[in-house]
Amino acid sequence: MKKLIAGNWKMNMGGADAKDFAVSLKQAVIDPACEVLVCVPFTAIPDVASVLNGSKISVGAQNVSWADSGAFTGEISADMLHYAGATHAIVGHSERRAMFGETDETVKKRTLKALEKGITPIVCIGETLSQRKGGLTEKVLKSQLDGAFDGFALQQMQRLVIAYEPVWAIGTGETATAQQAGDTVAFIRDCLNKMFGYSPRILYGGSMNASNAAELLNAGIDGGLIGGASLKIADFKAIIGAA
Ligand code: G3H
Repeated sequence: MKKLIAGNWKMNMGGADAKDFAVSLKQAVIDPACEVLVCVPFTAIPDVASVLNGSKISVGAQNVSWADSGAFTGEISADMLHYAGATHAIVGHSERRAMFGETDETVKKRTLKALEKGITPIVCIGETLSQRKGGLTEKVLKSQLDGAFDGFALQQMQRLVIAYEPVWAIGTGETATAQQAGDTVAFIRDCLNKMFGYSPRILYGGSMNASNAAELLNAGIDGGLIGGASLKIADFKAIIGAA
């Protein structure tokens, strides 16, 4: 399976800086065995997509609505993302779960709509520090998988990506060890194989950087969802090079 290196810019680089970054990124040397994606602020999607047009780098958003249109202030629909130039969308990032009321139920609805509309969802799951310390990691992850994908068909699972992001490793500089990340991703893969006889690509996210990427990516993990280090062109190119 091809590795996927996905940047998540979060609420950074929404203007001219995004275009400049995309121009530099387009020059990155990308191994054919690797795919690259940048999930950028909504305002940056048209510029970044236009710069990256014709390259092998895809552009994604950081959210997508479960609705087609209507009274959903602040939301963005899959059709709008297509129009802007995005092909992917992050769904259920832990920051959205913690600060914006995202639940397994809304994650499922968003994922279904994205699939229906041909946007590739990157569905995020992960445990908090207290859950890990309490020995609840596997229980929490299984429950998030059930909540997000219960009733899905194999064909739907084949068109999405999962990102395992331990909440305690996000933006903290504290990365899961390759062993921890690899073991947990193996657990998730096992659950999905039992549920669907198939496991989609599973990324790791949480303080991945140029120094630790190679080791993490060699631990049975299919790629990375990178926050902070995806904002620095040299670091992001180094991670792409490590994949
Ligand atoms: O979506 C990306 C993750 O939240 C990881 O962020 O690399 O800044 O820890 P980070």
